[in-house]
Amino acid sequence: MLKQEIEDGQAGLADPAFRADVLNGLAARPRAIPARWFYDRRGSELFEDITRLPEYYPTRTETALLERVCPEVARETGTGGAVIEFGSGSSVKTPLLLRAVRPAAYVPIDISGDFLRDSAREIAAQFPVMAVEPVEGDFLKPLKLPAGIGGLARLGFFPGSTIGNMAPVAAVDLLRTMRTSLGEGSSLLIGIDRIKDPAVLVPAYDDAQGVTAAFNLNLLERINAELSGTIPVESFAHVARWNDDRARIEMHLEAQRAVAFEVDGRGFAMAAGETIHTENSHKYGDRDARLLLAAGGWTVTRAWTDEDGLFALYLAEARGMEVAP
Ligand code: SAH
Ligand code: AVI
Repeated sequence: MLKQEIEDGQAGLADPAFRADVLNGLAARPRAIPARWFYDRRGSELFEDITRLPEYYPTRTETALLERVCPEVARETGTGGAVIEFGSGSSVKTPLLLRAVRPAAYVPIDISGDFLRDSAREIAAQFPVMAVEPVEGDFLKPLKLPAGIGGLARLGFFPGSTIGNMAPVAAVDLLRTMRTSLGEGSSLLIGIDRIKDPAVLVPAYDDAQGVTAAFNLNLLERINAELSGTIPVESFAHVARWNDDRARIEMHLEAQRAVAFEVDGRGFAMAAGETIHTENSHKYGDRDARLLLAAGGWTVTRAWTDEDGLFALYLAEARGMEVAP
């Protein structure tokens, strides 16, 4: 009940973590709000629209890769275990993996609760003999996995290059947390987007139809709805830029004129041209990705990429830590 009211955006019942992140983020310099807050129901739907855009190559490239490599993944990991997916969203790509590894249980994890439950229902209908146990929660925190997956061999699935939305230090923390949650001897299949020409990268995050702009601006609509905000959304513009030093696409919301507004009773002002930083999407070369996984406690056993080298999939194992010489 409480959860539903929060999702309905009734003032005063907003998620306290959302309120804290927004108020602190607007007071900070540079202003920044964590990208995880994009995903209310509308944000999750807009992300689905993004995945179908001609400019957004990651989803179709990773899907084609999964079609090709999932049978090989199944040969490496075996069948009949448990698949645990981090940031499952609409679980569109998941059936490709589930058909190959035929797990006894599937555990999708996401913060976007009602979206998660809808997609879990669809997957359960498609795979009637498999147990589907959705977990609504923040994957950055250690998770208690459902007791039902007990002694099953575990395969973590983290597609979409969602790992790229974390700064490298947070990405390493997350990989280590996953290692703890999944346990020694488990496997991880992870999708990681590659560094490439900014002429390809920037349009993927600033499409001609303006869907990514709507996704970014929806964060301001969410703040207004859930935190009694008075932000003049039409006075902000979506900006996507490539930061070459940090190998990442950055998304910002730029004030087009001087603005003053309130959120949760607190006043804020921005000059024309000032921005709120809303997302990073880090890109990794092959060695960068391997180093990131190694730092997170994962040993790469197989790696695949498409013929244009746009996107990569890594299969890794949580092996005993090597003793340094
Ligand atoms: N895996 C899908 C969706 C990627 S979109 C794909 O590859 O297309 C990123 C997803 O991660 C969203 O569904 C979002 O709600 C979820 N997400 C983002 N941050 C999260 C967090 N900290 N904890 C749990 N889920 C998160
Ligand atoms: C979910 N995540 C990997 C997407 C990305 O590409 O960084 C989110 C996104 N932001 C804008 N477009 C897509």
